[in-house]
Amino acid sequence: MSTAAKGLEGVVAAETEMSFIDGEKGVLEYVGIAIDPLARHSTFEETVFLLWNKRLPKADELAAFSKDLRSNYGLSKETKRLIALMPTSAQPMHVLRTIVSSLALDDPDPNSTDRSAVQAKGLRILAQAPAIVAAFDRHRRGLEIIEPDSSLSFAANFLWLLNGEKPTDTMERAFDACMILHADHGLNASTFACRVIISTLSDIYSAITGAIGALRGPLHGGANEGVMVALNEVGSVGEVEDFVMGKLKRKERIMGFGHRVYKAYDPRATYLKTLAKQLAEDTGNAELYEKSSRVEQIMEREVAAKGIYPNVDFYSATTYHSIGLKLDLFTPMFALSRIAGWTGHALEQLDANRLIRPKADYVGPHDKPYVSMDKR
Ligand code: SDX
Repeated sequence: MSTAAKGLEGVVAAETEMSFIDGEKGVLEYVGIAIDPLARHSTFEETVFLLWNKRLPKADELAAFSKDLRSNYGLSKETKRLIALMPTSAQPMHVLRTIVSSLALDDPDPNSTDRSAVQAKGLRILAQAPAIVAAFDRHRRGLEIIEPDSSLSFAANFLWLLNGEKPTDTMERAFDACMILHADHGLNASTFACRVIISTLSDIYSAITGAIGALRGPLHGGANEGVMVALNEVGSVGEVEDFVMGKLKRKERIMGFGHRVYKAYDPRATYLKTLAKQLAEDTGNAELYEKSSRVEQIMEREVAAKGIYPNVDFYSATTYHSIGLKLDLFTPMFALSRIAGWTGHALEQLDANRLIRPKADYVGPHDKPYVSMDKR
């Protein structure tokens, strides 16, 4: 009988000083600060500083950090050429994974695992990821690539690069809050993938490339796209009940619900729900929010007793749609933010590294003879 913990459920595989999660109470803190006040009052740039330095920055430190981040916004001409070679039919998450991996090619010292070098490389990847996603989206639409504007925040710069116009304060604030909410979350699958790779003393480009691959899965970061697909399938609010009950009856997963750790409301969904409602109403997407809210009501009635509640992906779908993002850009948004958490975990892993190498329970046969081909 195997003793393996399926999916490593409940296994503590690392220590971290970045995210504290209490799954039973629905608590998330970044370095001890609750996620809700951070989402309401901080900025993504300040949150990245907090995660990497384990404390809030002073004003001059934040200014210096933002300047460093923004000075890395621009893509090299080789990277732009590579993006221009991407098939316009390619999926944005596959493009992001491919181009992030290629950033190692013009780094004169790509393999360094020196802490300050890894942080600088992580900052470069974080700074350039928005430009990679936006440049590919404009490429597939047959539009010119837009140059970044280093006077803009991380959130505003992405929306500028994507649309060619400066976002409204409301849009910038909403997107910035989404970036804060997605930045780090303990040892989730993509973060674990990142730590496994860096624990071999491989490079940060490989670690973040592997993490992007893990995040794309529909059981993880890909769920926000799945939420939107489901909401689009439901014609109207009145049809939600039949839609949800049909899926539950067929034992199909409702994307955006349930969580390996949270058996209570995901505290990130609380703020995202208010953001989604406000943005949906401001942008003529009120019915989309109503459908989401109706799905939540039915899921609460049917499965809340099993500890299945909305997770971060459920209301981020309505939020991203209301900001005007295309469906297949939702998961890349998750990645843009989580590069901060992945880099932070890579640094923590390197600070006290030990190769991550669990065991597997062998459950196959023993003492089998080798049978030559003519006797098989
Ligand atoms: C993220 O780990 C993280 O921190 C991830 C994340 C982060 O910030 O990095 O928080 C981001 O990935 C959030 C999760 C996004 N994924 C989805 O929304 C996909 C839909 N949800 C699931 O498939 C599921 O809830 C998981 C994968 C998220 C967690 O599943 P577990 O812990 O493996 O639980 P399970 O599959 O064993 O389910 C337990 C029971 C089952 O019922 P029974 O077989 O016991 O009768 O709950 C049911 C499941 O069928 N269930 C669901 C459900 N999720 C679980 N039923 C319907 N819809 C769902 N969404």
